[in-house]
Amino acid sequence: MNEVRIFDTTLRDGEQSPGISLDVAEKLEIAEQLARLGVDIIEAGFPIASQGDFEAVEAIAKSITGSTIAGLSRTGFADIDRAWEAVQHAERPRIHVFIATSPIHMKKKLRMTEDEVKEEAAAGVKRARGYCEDVEFSPEDGSRSDPDFMTEVCQIAVDNGATTINIPDTVGFGVPEEFAELIVFVLDRVRGDYVVSTHCHNDLGLAVANSLAGVKAGARQVECAINGLGERAGNAALEEVVMAITTRSDYFGHVETNVRTEELSRTSRIVSRLTGYPVQYNKAVVGRNAFAHEAGIHQHGVLEDPETYEIMDANTVGQEAAQIVLGKHSGRHAFSDSLAKMGIRIQGDALNSAFTRFKELADRKVQITEADLEAIVAEELGAGYVHRYDIVSLDFHGGTSSTPTAKVVLSDESTKVDAEASGNGMIDAAMAAIAEATGVKGRLTDFVVAAVTGGGDALGDVVIQLDADGIKVSGRGVSTDVVEASARAYLNAVNKVLRLRERPDTREVEIGP
Ligand code: KIV
Ligand code: ZN
Repeated sequence: MNEVRIFDTTLRDGEQSPGISLDVAEKLEIAEQLARLGVDIIEAGFPIASQGDFEAVEAIAKSITGSTIAGLSRTGFADIDRAWEAVQHAERPRIHVFIATSPIHMKKKLRMTEDEVKEEAAAGVKRARGYCEDVEFSPEDGSRSDPDFMTEVCQIAVDNGATTINIPDTVGFGVPEEFAELIVFVLDRVRGDYVVSTHCHNDLGLAVANSLAGVKAGARQVECAINGLGERAGNAALEEVVMAITTRSDYFGHVETNVRTEELSRTSRIVSRLTGYPVQYNKAVVGRNAFAHEAGIHQHGVLEDPETYEIMDANTVGQEAAQIVLGKHSGRHAFSDSLAKMGIRIQGDALNSAFTRFKELADRKVQITEADLEAIVAEELGAGYVHRYDIVSLDFHGGTSSTPTAKVVLSDESTKVDAEASGNGMIDAAMAAIAEATGVKGRLTDFVVAAVTGGGDALGDVVIQLDADGIKVSGRGVSTDVVEASARAYLNAVNKVLRLRERPDTREVEIGP
């Protein structure tokens, strides 16, 4: 087979990154973009983990077409039944069953013997296969397992109906040559009709290298996540895996993926905005400097012939300069038309509030680019379904000779609330005023500010992480003024905290092995 399937786990393993908590609307937005990107499989979540996870997987299964929709499940029947309940509506559903096979996981986490693990794997896969033709099996911590035992369990999974065998380097312990040998060993040992897959974590910065070594050795599915999101140091970055396979197809035996690479940069930006995880400037493929040449000698060479210093064309990954799309005279029609051309579909209240925000910003910023539009829409979607508080007005004063103060008026459904506060700076004062007005006082655990595009009138894009009595959320705000952007980010986070307080069932619960 010359095709390498791309299995995206941004919404499952990626969502397990500390501080990321996406609601159903945000997950749907990401899933739509992943389908547009052309990934073969979207792992939409872990349905038994929480009611919120279940609802998101179900909503994605009901509305996304073109990609297979997978739900993760342990081997217990309750997990598998729940996973099926969520993915059954998909055009092409998949159940992904896993159980650990390494000595440390079996002893310390599962408290199971080898025989018990074998029985669990057999029963779990069989039950999943009773529901669905497409069943994936993963021996968790595969790279630290005894290869003989691990492949024995994989054989049991295949014999009971698994069609994909995924080898996880769960703790990022593998190195490329050794991981490739493991893939060859699986292919040699496990008989039957199945596809071998890789799932590599990045604890040693080797996730992409290990995944590619797996492909070279015969793996025909790679599990990866946009921007390399995932537990701890993350998973293999999808954009890097895809572009390595595309650019060095000669080396990898002329294999191909189905990914529409021109959508990579936009997907990266959408995921970054909705998760609140920034993309490092020099990140391969999708970083804003990935195609920027600073040294004069490089610039000269690139002007003569881009191939002197570029191995990929920026256009093939959608990195062309964000074009100017709209100005302050643009109407609602042009606004939604531009969004549609960018593949963004929002309707109803979200469209109305995004348009209002666009008009406010267009009054202050002459040219609104594609990247600005994405930021505005992401801020609106980031507010989620229930947009409890909105900013009516925000005034702040500060300087080197006076105490910074801020006054905020917020709409709270049909009424208004206001508060005044002082702080260490105007940003601090604005956030303190919002905390006072809403009663949500949290600890700011992260604060990142970046410009959406270049220029003095660039939109400031602020991402914060807030911990309010153990509820950890991210918030995002954009504005031409960085104090206002920060206040918006804070309010965005407050709205999420209130939503989670109202619906504790949508929060992730700690689940055992
Ligand atoms: O890292 C891992 O082992 C996983 C499995 C559930 C595939 O995420
Ligand atoms: Zn993982």
